[in-house]
Amino acid sequence: MSALSINAERLLSRIRALGEIGRDSDSRLTRLAASDADKAGRDRLVQWLREAELEIEVDQIGNIFGVWRDARNAENAPVLIGSHIDTVIDAGIYDGCYGVLSGLETIQTLREAGTALAHPIAIAAFTNEEGVRYAPDMMGSLVYAGGLSIDEALAIVGTDGSVLGEELRRIGYAGAGVPGLSKPHAYVELHVEQGPVLEREGVPIGAVENLQGISWQRITIEGVANHAGTTPMSMRRDAGHAAARVIGFLHDRAIASNTPTVATVGCIAFEPSAINVIPSRAMFTVDLRDPDAERLKVEEAALAGYLQDLAAAESMTVTAERLARFEPVTFDAKIVGIIEEAARGRGLVSKRMTSGAGHDAQMIARIAPAAMIFVPSVGGISHNPREYTADADLVAGANVLFDVIQRLAAD
Ligand code: GLV
Ligand code: MN
Ligand code: MN
Repeated sequence: MSALSINAERLLSRIRALGEIGRDSDSRLTRLAASDADKAGRDRLVQWLREAELEIEVDQIGNIFGVWRDARNAENAPVLIGSHIDTVIDAGIYDGCYGVLSGLETIQTLREAGTALAHPIAIAAFTNEEGVRYAPDMMGSLVYAGGLSIDEALAIVGTDGSVLGEELRRIGYAGAGVPGLSKPHAYVELHVEQGPVLEREGVPIGAVENLQGISWQRITIEGVANHAGTTPMSMRRDAGHAAARVIGFLHDRAIASNTPTVATVGCIAFEPSAINVIPSRAMFTVDLRDPDAERLKVEEAALAGYLQDLAAAESMTVTAERLARFEPVTFDAKIVGIIEEAARGRGLVSKRMTSGAGHDAQMIARIAPAAMIFVPSVGGISHNPREYTADADLVAGANVLFDVIQRLAAD
């Protein structure tokens, strides 16, 4: 499609450089949203945006934008390339960062070539995509798309008791821009697959046509603390054991369903948390996902029913708090087609697929035509320091993005 290609060395060196920011003394990479490490990553990104002579904007939720516009196209809505640079705990270096830096690379390459386009091009690094410190996830893009008010978002209390708005101010990224003021002409997000499909099938490019629904809850079970040595098994109201039963229920049900349903308990805490005390309280999170909206509802109802029966059978109090709830999303068919054409133009096989992970694209799809490009993840591993995508695959994906953006910004 294009005779031009992105500067592979510049892209790869930036991915590696950003991947060194936010490492602890054990070399674990953790840049939780609005933390000091996140600030350091943001500062580096802003420095690159400056070097690329982009207009830099930061909005009230801390989303960072780098905009390239010229006198001829300034009146038109921008084509937006987005993702995130916050990470999970002990993360890999590609999740989110690859998309943001490929967007920057796309703009720089086009600019250096003196390309004239009908639309400005902007890149976005959205705040708190991961949702590890503050729920819900995809928060910056959700606010940008009008799905959560700025006041509500800024007041959210994190897992460490911090308040997002205060933390954004503290790190210097509580901007002035009103989120979502300008609606993009189109939105594209390039991301590592984070799953095994592309590698298993030997396909270098995923044209992502939809994304599964996500349900996050925090469950609290209240039992009774008692002596671990003296309390007969039949007389216990053990919140820890009850939590274990819920975990087993979710796992077994998802496997037995033989559907794409996935269920995860990723956080758990007992109180008083002592070796010789029966837990009086168990708190844990549930992450339920399904590409089918109806089935996701059925799974949520099955969990609610199980918790109700458990509470009655064990004489315990069980409460469930919703942390995030997003319906499955269908991406823009025209952009998915353009991604397939762009891959073909580069001599690359592509495959239509569903995203198992949540992404900022699912929020921006509420306000603009949006789609995603995936590249293979070795071993399907992500949210793990072993996350890895071969350089050649990263470069191929970035060139497909480059071609797609040119096409979308042309008219
Ligand atoms: C985002 O990384 C998610 O949880 O899917
Ligand atoms: Mn991501
Ligand atoms: Mn992630």
